[in-house]
Amino acid sequence: MSAMQACDPPMPKTILITGASGAVGGAVARALADFGDFVLQGRDRARLASLAEALQSAGARTQLWTVDLADRRALEAAVANLPPIDVFVHAAGFPLYRLIAETDPVDWDALFDVHVRSAYLIVRRIVPGMQRRGYGRIIFVSSLWGTVGAAGEAAYAAAKGAQNAFVRSLGKELARSGITVNAVAPGALDTPMVERHLSEAERGTLIEAIPAHRLGAPEDVAGIVRFLVRDAGDYLTAQVIGVNGGWY
Ligand SMILES: NC(=O)c1ccc[n+]([C@@H]2O[C@H](COP(=O)([O-])OP(=O)(O)OC[C@H]3O[C@@H](n4cnc5c(N)ncnc54)[C@H](OP(=O)(O)O)[C@@H]3O)[C@@H](O)[C@H]2O)c1
Repeated sequence: MSAMQACDPPMPKTILITGASGAVGGAVARALADFGDFVLQGRDRARLASLAEALQSAGARTQLWTVDLADRRALEAAVANLPPIDVFVHAAGFPLYRLIAETDPVDWDALFDVHVRSAYLIVRRIVPGMQRRGYGRIIFVSSLWGTVGAAGEAAYAAAKGAQNAFVRSLGKELARSGITVNAVAPGALDTPMVERHLSEAERGTLIEAIPAHRLGAPEDVAGIVRFLVRDAGDYLTAQVIGVNGGWY
């Protein structure tokens, strides 16, 4: 084996993206289209199938994984059947705009199931294989709210803060094994998740508050994920990387 070969990490073979039927997960998949084969998670089979078709035309093999991440029993069985994964991007998620006194425990649990518990179960399943192969990339799509908090979104922000703490801890735990663990934390993105909840006037006020003077695009997030997967070495780990147009 040449010195060059000895330094190169093994090529990622299988990429698992949760939330692949969504705006960010779909953009991440397209940004990694030339980099491996895919397990695409989401509940909307039609959107997943159309993404899979695009990836297949770029030469990737795809598998659809339509498990509900808040369905504990279904998820545990589905996780047990996952193939070996080299790259895991956790982009599934949903917001909850609710004052705390009106936040129902069912919604609180669903937020933590989708954002945190599902990722923990997946990580626990895939990490031993990554350790054996000496390579892995684990990336969470978190949120600026997980760092700075948000009035009226305490449950969502708490779930995102938990993701950030998990990333920082797991990154340290796995730092010697060729596996990196990072989060990409967007501010406000121009996606249906935000659009659904904003009037034109609120959108304008939001843009005024963002130094870059625009909402982010899913591709802004996907570009950082692509960098973490393809270009960054194993010294970039345990970080929460803001992608927010300077909007702290
Ligand atoms: N958009 C923003 O401005 C923004 C800002 C900061 C952070 N983020 C974070 O970025 C991530 C992606 O957001 P996005 O804008 O791409 O949202 P999106 O377009 O609404 O996509 C959300 C994805 O999560 C999946 N999902 C939600 N609940 C699920 C459940 N119970 N089981 C299985 N899958 C579930 C959806 O699947 P189906 O649709 O197929 O059901 C979809 O694929 C989220 O974690 C979000 O918190 C977004």
